Amino acid sequence: MKILVVGGGGREHAIVWKLAQSPKAEKIYCAPGNAGISQLAECVPIAATDIKALADFAEEKKIDLTVIGMDDPLMLGVVDEFESRGLRVFGPRKNAALIEGSKVFSKNLMKKYGIPTAGYWEVDSADQAKAFLKEHNTYPIVLKADGLALGKGVLICNNEKEAMDGVDEIMVDKKFGQAGAKMVIEEFLTGDEVSVLSFCDGKTVKTMVSAQDHKRAFDHDQGLNTGGMGTFSPSRHYTAKEEAEAKEKIFQKTVDAMNAEGRTFKGVLYYGLMLTKDGVKVLEYNSRFGDPETQVILPRLDTDLVDIFEACIDGTLDKIDIKWKDNAAVCVVLASGGYPVSYKKGYPISGLDAFDGRDDMMIFHAGTKFDENGQIVTNGGRVLGIVALDDDLDKAIKKVYANIDKVTFKDAFYRHDIGMK
Ligand code: AMP
Ligand code: GLY
Repeated sequence: MKILVVGGGGREHAIVWKLAQSPKAEKIYCAPGNAGISQLAECVPIAATDIKALADFAEEKKIDLTVIGMDDPLMLGVVDEFESRGLRVFGPRKNAALIEGSKVFSKNLMKKYGIPTAGYWEVDSADQAKAFLKEHNTYPIVLKADGLALGKGVLICNNEKEAMDGVDEIMVDKKFGQAGAKMVIEEFLTGDEVSVLSFCDGKTVKTMVSAQDHKRAFDHDQGLNTGGMGTFSPSRHYTAKEEAEAKEKIFQKTVDAMNAEGRTFKGVLYYGLMLTKDGVKVLEYNSRFGDPETQVILPRLDTDLVDIFEACIDGTLDKIDIKWKDNAAVCVVLASGGYPVSYKKGYPISGLDAFDGRDDMMIFHAGTKFDENGQIVTNGGRVLGIVALDDDLDKAIKKVYANIDKVTFKDAFYRHDIGMK
């Protein structure tokens, strides 16, 4: 098979790495890819959001399967475009990707179908939001821009001043653009967070092993929110009890709700959960693999990923047995000094071959490229994900930190407490 993967971060590197292990994968392309991905796939310089050019490429190269990694092309209707041309593609259509693309939509869906989530109020103007906050007067409270905002459209406000400033930021100054035209004001939940990703074929849902990420830039959850500074799998808190509860109240119910709304979901449905003292609740849905969750989940997968994607497209997911390794994985992100605010790019990276030939440690590239001399250099805020696998979390954590300094570049930094939550 000829396979095309769309995206160019650590998540797509992990997807390409896993697909490359399939005996069915003859040739893999990645658009746009990165320096690490280019060791396994042919990278093509097409932006992930240029959906017409992607479909043209797939037609021209007679691609048998396209896998969409990122959220933006999904919301732009990349799957609809491919399907209209008779091309096979893994991911939700635009009308189903809305489960991530609109917080107002997903909250209303959960309310309508009785799926447990935080209480909320929908507002469509700053005046309405402020009037509500003055009357409600309970803190902390959570403000969420309705649309996609690079994972940054969520503000947790500890008092009235922060909340009023937050409303201005989202709805008046439009810091997240059109994403802030509407907003959800949400009850603040406490508990342990866990990410449970699943494969869906429109009817059947099969969950993957659990994972957890660390969003703040610095140790002990200090500093600004980032795209994710590290992940580990499995979660320490998501036990058989929580899993049984989520199975009963959340996973299949969501897939059925989407069908009832005429928005059949095929692809990866990501459940961001909070394990509260009142039970498991949904914090958010994503309509794609998580980044950097994928970097710790796919190395634990024992089934051919091509078979799983094909089953999702064909609606035969109930027929395949997905197997996972009984081990643990940790991913620590090596980031550019200054991230997530401002940072320099173009620094040479040393030690990229440190784990060559090992199957218990790997490097997934997130922001790298080749410079004019063919040297791999930094090309983003999050540069690399260093992954270690071992029998359990404690061993995997020890291993990743014993080895991480073998790989470095100027001003690199990383968190020292990944997996210790
Ligand atoms: P979201 O994009 O909705 O997942 O929000 C990003 C992060 O904000 C989550 O991973 C949580 O850490 C936090 N968060 C979102 N909603 C809530 C809530 N209702 N209560 C507490 N924390 C929240
Ligand atoms: N790591 C969170 C996400 O991919 O949305």
